[in-house]
Amino acid sequence: MEVITKTELKELKLFSRGKVRDTYELPDGNLLMVATDRLSAFDVVFPNGIPYKGAVLTELSLFWFEKLKGIVDNHLISTQLPSGLPNYLKRRSMIVKRAKPIKLECVVRGYLAGSGLKEYNEHGTVCGIPLPKGLKNSSKLPRPIFTPSTKEDVGHDININDEQGAKLVGKERYEKLKEISLKLYQTAADYAATRGIILADTKFEFGEYNGKIILIDEVLTPDSSRYWPADKYKEGQSQPSYDKQYVRDYVESIGWDKKPPAPSLPEEVVKKTTEKYIEAYEKITGKKFAR
Ligand SMILES: Nc1ncnc2c1ncn2[C@@H]1O[C@H](COP(=O)(O)OP(=O)(O)OP(=O)(O)O)[C@@H](O)[C@H]1O
Ligand SMILES: [Mg+2]
Repeated sequence: MEVITKTELKELKLFSRGKVRDTYELPDGNLLMVATDRLSAFDVVFPNGIPYKGAVLTELSLFWFEKLKGIVDNHLISTQLPSGLPNYLKRRSMIVKRAKPIKLECVVRGYLAGSGLKEYNEHGTVCGIPLPKGLKNSSKLPRPIFTPSTKEDVGHDININDEQGAKLVGKERYEKLKEISLKLYQTAADYAATRGIILADTKFEFGEYNGKIILIDEVLTPDSSRYWPADKYKEGQSQPSYDKQYVRDYVESIGWDKKPPAPSLPEEVVKKTTEKYIEAYEKITGKKFAR
C-alpha cells in the first residue's frame, strides 16, 4: 500500500486539512474524509508517513461505528468511493454526512494519565472533579469521568469543568453530550476488556445534523484513545501503549523541544510504529489486518 502524506484531489473542493485527515466536499454536499499516513505527536506533524496508518485509523473507526451505532447515530454514509478518484484512497476514506461540529472535545477517562494525571498531582482534581486522595499514575478511577476540553485551532486544547462546558455549548446539550460520551466509553471499555485491552481514556467529537447530535470524526483509534495491554498493566507507572510510544521515546532521546518543525524519524522508528498501529487493530477487532 502506497504511503500518502498529502492528497491533492483536483476534482473536488478541499473542505479542511487537519493534522491527519484531508477532507473534501462532494458535489452532493456530503464529505469525503481521507485519513492520510501523517503522524502527529505533541500536536506537531512529522515529515515521515507511517505506512498503513490511514487504513488502520479508518478501518478501526468503521469497526467502532458499527458496534456503537445503537447508542448514537454517526456520520458514516459509505466507504464506496465515487468513480474516477485515485486508487490510493481505498481503505483510508469514508463518505460522511457534513455536520456542524460542536466545539467541545468530549473526553472520558477511566484511568489517570496524561493531562488528567498532571492536574490531579497539582490540584487533586481532573477538570475540576475532585478525586480520592492517594491515586497514582495509571490508577483506575472510582468510576469513569467526563473531562471535556476546548477545541483550540492552534496549540493544545484546554481542560474545562462542567460549568465552563455548559457555558460553551449550552447546559442541556452539555448534559446530553456527557451522557452519550459516558455510555460510549463504558460500552467500548467493556468490549476492549474482553480482548485483553484497557481503554484508559478516549476523545469523541460530535456534530449537529438535521437538528440531532451525531458522532463524527474518528472514533476509538489509537490517535484519539489510550489503549493499554491489560496483561502488562501496573499501577504507579506509565503503561506501554498501542500508538506513538516509539516516536515519543525517540524525540525525547534526541532532546527535541517539541516545537515545529518536527524532526525526521529513523526508518526503525517508523517501522515499529506501523507495527504498533496494526497490532492495535488486530488486538481490538480480533481480525487480521490486510497488508
Ligand atoms: N462529519 C463531519 N462534518 C464536519 N466536520 C467534521 C466531520 N467529521 C470530522 N470533522 C472535522 O474534520 C477534522 C478532522 O481532521 P483531523 O482530525 O485531521 O484534524 P485535527 O488536526 O485533529 O484537528 P481537530 O483538532 O479539529 O480534530 C476535525 O476538525 C473534525 O472536527
Ligand atoms: Mg482530529
